Amino acid sequence: MNVDPSGEIQSASVVLRGVSRAFHDVKAVRDVSLHIEAGSFFSLLGPSGCGKSTTLRMIAGFEHPDTGTISIGGVDVTNVPPQKRPTAMVFQNYALFPHMTVAQNVEYGLAVKGMNAGDRKKRALEALDRVEMASLYEKSVTELSGGQQQRIALARALATQPDVLLFDEPLSNLDAELREQTRLELKRMQKELGTTSIYVTHDQEEALALSDRMAIMKDGRIVQTGAPRDVYYNPASAFSARFLGGSNLIEGDCAELLAGESHAEKSRSAGSQAEERHSERSHIEGMVLAVRAEDVQPDPDGTFEGELVFQQFLGRSSELLIQWKGIQLKSSARGEALQNGPIRFNVVGSSWVTDDR
Ligand SMILES: Nc1ncnc2c1ncn2[C@@H]1O[C@H](COP(=O)(O)OP(=O)(O)OP(=O)(O)O)[C@@H](O)[C@H]1O
Ligand SMILES: [Mg+2]
Repeated sequence: MNVDPSGEIQSASVVLRGVSRAFHDVKAVRDVSLHIEAGSFFSLLGPSGCGKSTTLRMIAGFEHPDTGTISIGGVDVTNVPPQKRPTAMVFQNYALFPHMTVAQNVEYGLAVKGMNAGDRKKRALEALDRVEMASLYEKSVTELSGGQQQRIALARALATQPDVLLFDEPLSNLDAELREQTRLELKRMQKELGTTSIYVTHDQEEALALSDRMAIMKDGRIVQTGAPRDVYYNPASAFSARFLGGSNLIEGDCAELLAGESHAEKSRSAGSQAEERHSERSHIEGMVLAVRAEDVQPDPDGTFEGELVFQQFLGRSSELLIQWKGIQLKSSARGEALQNGPIRFNVVGSSWVTDDR
């Protein structure tokens, strides 16, 4: 894939201020404020129904906010219709026109804007070339596989040379391998083009892999924003901790767990951080202790002794359920299958998070 021949980088910041949208009594989006930097890749991650698509559709102009404003590139577009916004959207179901050819689909937006046939073809071929689909120019879209259709939908968005690309779960209909490959290409292409990209997904791995920054949404609100590593390693709340990385959430007195953790030889926390851990309180009102499954590590010489009650092999790792003092701890472990029954393990990391469940 080549850098845009014009050498022009199209990107614009996207700013949402106090944006809300309700459908009858469903508050789909509540008081969302976001500042998405020009040229960055930003993801909105959250469970089904949390308001991701509605937020994206408001940025595209397909929905109007009940309150708040949306600016793109410093211009207030809250009352600007979708076709006049510098945005293009790629949908989960591709939304290609089945009765049209690839060419007609990719050129559609350009034709609407009144571009002449020669320029349209040039633009369409450039966009198709970028997604390595130029050879399908004359084909009917009904002849294409899901993966090919997805690329044509991406080419259609790119052809309009938008300042902001909007993606609504564009990879979720692809098989695992194609999804990973396309994800990689998408990221590389976004870096080359430098187009501000906003990506909606409920797949944590996708959000972590693609984003410069990401936001976690719950019930129409943003609960945490940050770079993927920040959000992953410093979850602000129980919801973030569980949704991103499947943490164990432990209530009540955590003294024994924390003491055992600081004794564990393999403790990740080094030096001053470990000192700090010793002084941590064993119970904090309104908070729970989040322990990542990968931080519960089976070890024949481990500090803790529990009971392995369940395991399932997932390929890259196995998921174990360890019963310990009335708590069930999830553990993500690599290696050979273990015997159900007594098991020793270490806990090598934890963090206090607000209990927002
Ligand atoms: N046009 C609509 N009319 C009525 N309710 C709607 C409409 N669009 C969305 N909703 C409701 O608003 C809430 C948020 O929907 P939204 O589509 O934004 O969620 P989402 O996070 O994209 O979910 P998913 O991951 O399932 O796509 C849901 O409760 C949904 O049922
Ligand atoms: Mg959605």
